[in-house]
Amino acid sequence: MYNYAFDADTKRWIDEVAAKLPAKMRYAVEKAQETDFIPYSTQNDEWKPVEISWWTNGFYPALCWQMYLATKDSFFRDEAVRTEVMLDEVFKDYRVLSHDNGFMWLISSGVHFALEHNKDSFDRTLFAAKMLACRYNPTGFIRAWQGRGREGWAIVDCLMNLPMLYWASDVTGDPRYKLMAMKHADTAMTAFIRPDGSSNHIVIFDPNTGEVLDNPAGQGYASGSCWSRGLSWAVYGYTLSYMATGKQEYLDVAKKTANHFIVNLGDDPVPLCDFRQPAEPKIYDTCAGAVVSCGLLELARILPENERDPYVKAALRILKGIESRFVRWDNGTPALLTHCTAAWHDLPTRHMTMIYADYFFIEAIYKLKGEERLFWLPHFFDEARGSNLYNLL
Ligand code: GLY
Repeated sequence: MYNYAFDADTKRWIDEVAAKLPAKMRYAVEKAQETDFIPYSTQNDEWKPVEISWWTNGFYPALCWQMYLATKDSFFRDEAVRTEVMLDEVFKDYRVLSHDNGFMWLISSGVHFALEHNKDSFDRTLFAAKMLACRYNPTGFIRAWQGRGREGWAIVDCLMNLPMLYWASDVTGDPRYKLMAMKHADTAMTAFIRPDGSSNHIVIFDPNTGEVLDNPAGQGYASGSCWSRGLSWAVYGYTLSYMATGKQEYLDVAKKTANHFIVNLGDDPVPLCDFRQPAEPKIYDTCAGAVVSCGLLELARILPENERDPYVKAALRILKGIESRFVRWDNGTPALLTHCTAAWHDLPTRHMTMIYADYFFIEAIYKLKGEERLFWLPHFFDEARGSNLYNLL
């Protein structure tokens, strides 16, 4: 159980928000069940169609698992399972897979396996992990995307996909997955993370030598700027890498990136899309706020007690800031958070809704309520851990 000493107002706020989630999410799921796709975003306050291979498609089943654990209502469990099975379609054309397999399967089938030990979910997660491992370049990084000319491209988001490799080593006993993940995390500490704790989004390596060639803007404002969601992936990703490996440098980087994030919020608790964007227009990304809040809370949990406070306080400030201005509790839309931004330069994606923003907001609220099951390292809460249920190499 988390041992945060919340003041009475904060405790009331957490309880009120948590109490509102089940009804809102039931509505969101009922609206999804009227469609034949997995929700990503909304248009005109309806879920908007998206292809089955879209990288965010693990977040909706994961959200349903969070709701199931909180409510014990099988309505949410069954929806998580229904949409996990829908994702099998993607395996039929494995060439569409990217490094985002962790986002798609660790928190859907990986969580399902940890809770119920069904072989299909184990197989899905391990296959996805193997496909992620195939993307490892022996110069020391994991390739992000498909396509000729992108052999050397890696992105900071990948830090959140490494946990699936830690999971794979744990369930198979084969250290290769974990070693690849650690090599990538080691490379990223200098190739992505700058001395001041800010981060590149994209790094282009020479795929033959591993030399850093370039760092284009990606979803942020410019090369050399700091895309806030990218930095939130680094905060949470390095926290998880530390938890999985115990390597001190990962904890140091997690703290350094977290400190940079907190300082750059300034007076506004809701993060801008890019901490180095121009003063106008003021483009927010609540999704970055939700992701980093989860990372900060998890970081606080593993730090000595006398180091925790700033991280817990920052997470609360961000979450309260988002909730007071950018959450739709009404049933006029199935989405929860507004003002998410996919990419600075992709104007229609500014201030949209995103299923993964909703997912991380919910994960953060349930962390504050005391939920310790960490979806990103599901073997940690697997009661059968170490029993090699399906140890099929
Ligand atoms: N590229 C993943 C994200 O939008 O955060």
